[in-house]
Amino acid sequence: MVAKSRGIPLTTLLLILFLSAIVPTSLSDQVLNSKNPRPSSSASSLGSSVAFQIKGNVYPLGYYTVSLAIGNPPKVYDLDIDTGSDLTWVQCDAPCQGCTIPRNRLYKPNGNLVKCGDPLCKAIQSAPNHHCAGPNEQCDYEVEYADQGSSLGVLLRDNIPLKFTNGSLARPILAFGCGYDQKHVGHNPSASTAGVLGLGNGKTSILSQLHSLGLIRNVVGHCLSERGGGFLFFGDQLVPQSGVVWTPLLQSSSTQHYKTGPADLFFDRKPTSVKGLQLIFDSGSSYTYFNSKAHKALVNLVTNDLRGKPLSRATEDSSLPICWRGPKPFKSLHDVTSNFKPLLLSFTKSKNSLLQLPPEAYLIVTKHGNVCLGILDGTEIGLGNTNIIGDISLQDKLVIYDNEKQQIGWASANCDRSSNS
Ligand SMILES: *[C@@H]1O[C@H](CO)[C@@H](O)[C@H](O)[C@H]1NC(C)=O
Repeated sequence: MVAKSRGIPLTTLLLILFLSAIVPTSLSDQVLNSKNPRPSSSASSLGSSVAFQIKGNVYPLGYYTVSLAIGNPPKVYDLDIDTGSDLTWVQCDAPCQGCTIPRNRLYKPNGNLVKCGDPLCKAIQSAPNHHCAGPNEQCDYEVEYADQGSSLGVLLRDNIPLKFTNGSLARPILAFGCGYDQKHVGHNPSASTAGVLGLGNGKTSILSQLHSLGLIRNVVGHCLSERGGGFLFFGDQLVPQSGVVWTPLLQSSSTQHYKTGPADLFFDRKPTSVKGLQLIFDSGSSYTYFNSKAHKALVNLVTNDLRGKPLSRATEDSSLPICWRGPKPFKSLHDVTSNFKPLLLSFTKSKNSLLQLPPEAYLIVTKHGNVCLGILDGTEIGLGNTNIIGDISLQDKLVIYDNEKQQIGWASANCDRSSNS
């Protein structure tokens, strides 16, 4: 959490059909069933991956989590999956301020503190004037998210048992944060989860640590289902050989974010005034955020297009800033999507890199039965010119963050986990 189109010429349409055909609907089965690992694409010893089942949804929960086991004997923690930040942290029995889960489910530190002189500590305390009393002192950290939520604590190491898709169980000792002072200003970090699973490409992320230990390739992917749930994986074994649309990551000096672009917005297959957006892919954000100017243009396009349709503004619904009511309450998105046009983001630096955003990728139906725009004004919450592609726009896609090749990719997919596995 830093802090989220469909204009379809015929060739693109063919591409979509092609994509849906080659991404197997049972991908999640293959990912999660370690007895039938997909054959590794390369002979590399790093061909193995780790897969997790995801829980959660965009609305009403607003987050997706995985269960991570930590310690020996291990205890399980539900962590928000966040490709927008690096550090993994858990609510900590230290004692704690702003801890929101029962004390018996807090992480109890066992003394494996990371020292201030440790390279990982240096990476987290990136501020040039970070206070480190001496190389053997503890390593304090503080992470602040774009919505002003934060966690403060100390870095430590513990066993994180992981089951690989090749059937092996490993017990790497990884560094993470023990958070004893949390603030929950906005929605993130979510108060109902035990912490955050930071999946950014910085040195401190668990992904980078597993890569440094030689256990996986530096690749993470997720598939978030529109019906809730989905799956997450580390490593490249589950990346399809073809059918993935790739676009390069932008090298940003200051941050660890998965930033891409520039991309142009299309509305109902037609170009718009919204061009050259840089976009951060952030699974820690439930919604998509455009800068003020782009947001205004989008709202105008959507509003004008709704003229003459049986939808009127529902200002009393405070679920999201912009909502509409129909003749009678909507039960699901399916009841209302025909009133809305597809959006599309076209990444101009890479050929044929189109991110399709059908109405399902930018609308929610609230518990009051209204439909709301899930692309929000980021400038309003202090994001400035930053644009974020959040969970709402990443649903039912396999999204792959490849730090080895410095690229991000996506393909249509059915992200449901089948009930028999
Ligand atoms: C399975 O993968 C892990 C992680 O890459 C590796 O350490 C382990 O040796 C592999 N096990 C087998 C049996 O190949």
